[in-house]
Amino acid sequence: MLVYLSEWLSLIIRWFHVIAGVAWIGASFYFVWLDNNLREPPAWKKQKGIKGDLWAIHGGGFYEVAKYEVGPEQMPSDLHWFKWEAYSTLLSGLALLAVVYYMGNPGYLIDPSKVALSGAGAVAIGVGTLVAVVALYEALIRSPLARNGMAFGVVLYLILVAVAFGLYQVFAGRGAYIHVGAVIGTIMVGNVFLGIVPAQRALVNAVARGEKPGEEVVMLAQRAMLRSRHNNYLTLPVLFIMISNHYPMFYAHAHGWLALAAIGAITAYARHFFNLRNQGQFKPSILVVSALATVALIWAMAPSAPSTVATHSHGTAQTDGDSAAAAPSPVTGAEISQLLATHCQACHAAKPTSPAFQAPPAGIILDSLEHLKQHGDKVYQAAVATHYMPLGNMSGMSDEERSLLGRWLQENR
Ligand code: HEC
Repeated sequence: MLVYLSEWLSLIIRWFHVIAGVAWIGASFYFVWLDNNLREPPAWKKQKGIKGDLWAIHGGGFYEVAKYEVGPEQMPSDLHWFKWEAYSTLLSGLALLAVVYYMGNPGYLIDPSKVALSGAGAVAIGVGTLVAVVALYEALIRSPLARNGMAFGVVLYLILVAVAFGLYQVFAGRGAYIHVGAVIGTIMVGNVFLGIVPAQRALVNAVARGEKPGEEVVMLAQRAMLRSRHNNYLTLPVLFIMISNHYPMFYAHAHGWLALAAIGAITAYARHFFNLRNQGQFKPSILVVSALATVALIWAMAPSAPSTVATHSHGTAQTDGDSAAAAPSPVTGAEISQLLATHCQACHAAKPTSPAFQAPPAGIILDSLEHLKQHGDKVYQAAVATHYMPLGNMSGMSDEERSLLGRWLQENR
């Protein structure tokens, strides 16, 4: 019952998290777009201090948007800030991290074949990494490095790759990925909370006092610009990580951290094309390079072909009798049924006996050879090509058993 209720909890928080994230990223996409589409206003608007003008039609009505050079003469009584979208995305994200990864199935986080962490140890590493990396970022953005945007970008990228590498050594792939995502997301919300909103507040205060913004306000605004640019480049990678938990081919890959580093570089570079275009520079070569790099990544990550050299004899297969010694005896169905029962069915059954699951995970039931065949390719990926399954390998599935399963899947396509 507890598992059932916690599934509901995670569903509701996840739902909310996606809605908040859409509102946040959607608004920031909209404002980037707005800024890039402002046109020179007519003279009477310029006199009011308006520097850009935009007309739009949406939902059956005309909208007139104006952007001020500094601010309006008088503070409007209602000013929308767009900050709770970011904050609620972070809060719901942290809640989801706790429910799914810290209190949910330990197999998402702990992989005994990497490090046999305790539950509390894993949570400490996860939370500790999050706090440490965000603190490091905050220290760097206040340092002289912040004056060199390009160098800062490279340093930030290298830090994130190092975090991905480090976490990949201690956590199961999925847990490592989500923590990199959480680090990036928290940096982004920190940028809003600690940099962008304070700069806006200083500007609003100056306008409210009827003053021209002083040097300090301008400096705050400049630093906020850098933070905002980082958020712009981090958006696509963070969204990728958030959906990556549907794709074991990524996070369960032997070099999953490297694949993630490649995705980060490719998406940030592709984003660069759009940023340049918005500044009036058109460099399609960037998109071509990004596309070629993606093809190279697809090629580099491709699963190795099923190995056909696994000729070792295997324990229980005596029924095959006197087949020639040279050819490996075919794997029997009985062996595979036994293997499924030992290593898979606690979870992948219509009614799982594992206390962590109410329903078969990923909807995959492995209670018969027919069902196994039906999911053959996925099973091959999850349990043979990678060691992602059995989740956390609590039952201690051996390499021999994996190659046995691989051979059966090959022989019974
Ligand atoms: C402790 C529970 C548990 C055990 C034992 C287990 N699995 Fe899974 N399995 C899961 C969970 C949870 C998921 C969903 C994973 C996700 O969403 O990341 C899953 C997903 C899968 C998938 C789908 C992966 C995809 O491409 O989306 C396959 C295939 C699979 N398991 C095969 C197996 C096989 C084969 C075994 C036995 C050798 C096994 N599992 C043992 C919990 C388990």
